[in-house]
Amino acid sequence: MDQQQWAQVVEAATRAPSIHNTQPWRFTATADQLDVFLDPGRALPVLDPTGRQQVISCGIAVEFAVVALAAAGWLSEVELLPDDDADHLATVRVIGPIVATDEDSALAASIARRHTVRDPFQPRVVPVDLLDRLQAEAAAFGTWFKPVTRSEEEVATVFLIDRAEEMEQGDPAYLAELQQWVRTDPAAVDGVPVGAVPAEDPHGRPSNWSIRDFVVGTRSAGEGAPVDADAPPPEVERPTVVLMGTDGDDRYAWLQAGRALARVLLVATAAGVAASPLTQALDWPATRTRLRARLSLVGHPQMLLRMGYPREGGEVAVSGRRPVAEVLTVAP
Ligand SMILES: Cc1cc2nc3c(=O)[nH]c(=O)nc-3n(C[C@H](O)[C@H](O)[C@H](O)COP(=O)(O)O)c2cc1C
Repeated sequence: MDQQQWAQVVEAATRAPSIHNTQPWRFTATADQLDVFLDPGRALPVLDPTGRQQVISCGIAVEFAVVALAAAGWLSEVELLPDDDADHLATVRVIGPIVATDEDSALAASIARRHTVRDPFQPRVVPVDLLDRLQAEAAAFGTWFKPVTRSEEEVATVFLIDRAEEMEQGDPAYLAELQQWVRTDPAAVDGVPVGAVPAEDPHGRPSNWSIRDFVVGTRSAGEGAPVDADAPPPEVERPTVVLMGTDGDDRYAWLQAGRALARVLLVATAAGVAASPLTQALDWPATRTRLRARLSLVGHPQMLLRMGYPREGGEVAVSGRRPVAEVLTVAP
């Protein structure tokens, strides 16, 4: 693999979603090996003091690299946490050439097409056979994938998300950290662009599921309220919500959850299904522990995902990425 080939693979890897679009990674490449490191300089000490969500983000980038390699005709294998350096998250070794399958090409094409979609979805359910497929994809990485379907599970999950969101909105340190990662410049190379988050107050949205409020405190009163008081009430959104988790709760488990999430998102995208994480309830030990107890989960919840079909004509603001040259070092 030459420098240009690695640049293409790393470009695909950096399209990975990451918490607050922090892109907490750095890469080094030699002829047949890509190493992925956590970049501690991009940490979120308030929201993510253990680095769990950032390591998950890096796990997604690892798997996006594997998918990009396969589509380019290279079989690879992944070794997680290959040495004593805790920030050395993975080594991706190129084993040899393969003939890329249609599936490899479809998944790689989904890397550029996937975006976090926070707007309400169409009132159309995600088919059970697709959910079964996603469950199998996650299971290959030791990660469970559980649609939240029973009404008492939904009530408990919605309650804990709302509780966590309320705690976050009342926490000046959380808000200050969030503010550092919200971007008004659409050309920004990191952070969450305001154009990618719905303008309306998430509380006024016709949905049980509160998306994370990225612009709390900056909205003027009444903004987003319906203009026509006689208009029929908007249809209540019923997204599919899934919980993903692992038996363990260490860096290895977080990386596996990230790799599973990568496959889930790409297979879903190829099937026309979009997603947005709803991780507020997992940010805080108190709500995360209660979620485990209320849903009788075996193991540790790592990701809550809202899934559905995007509305026709719905525009999604594309979140920026740092240039590859900033994150990749190729050894001569
Ligand atoms: C571990 C993790 C947690 C996330 N949590 C949330 C969340 O709670 N709410 C949300 O709207 N987006 C969440 N996101 C999505 C990121 O904000 C998004 O991936 C990032 O801004 C880049 O945008 P993109 O996915 O459209 O490329 C999360 C992403 C990851 C990887």
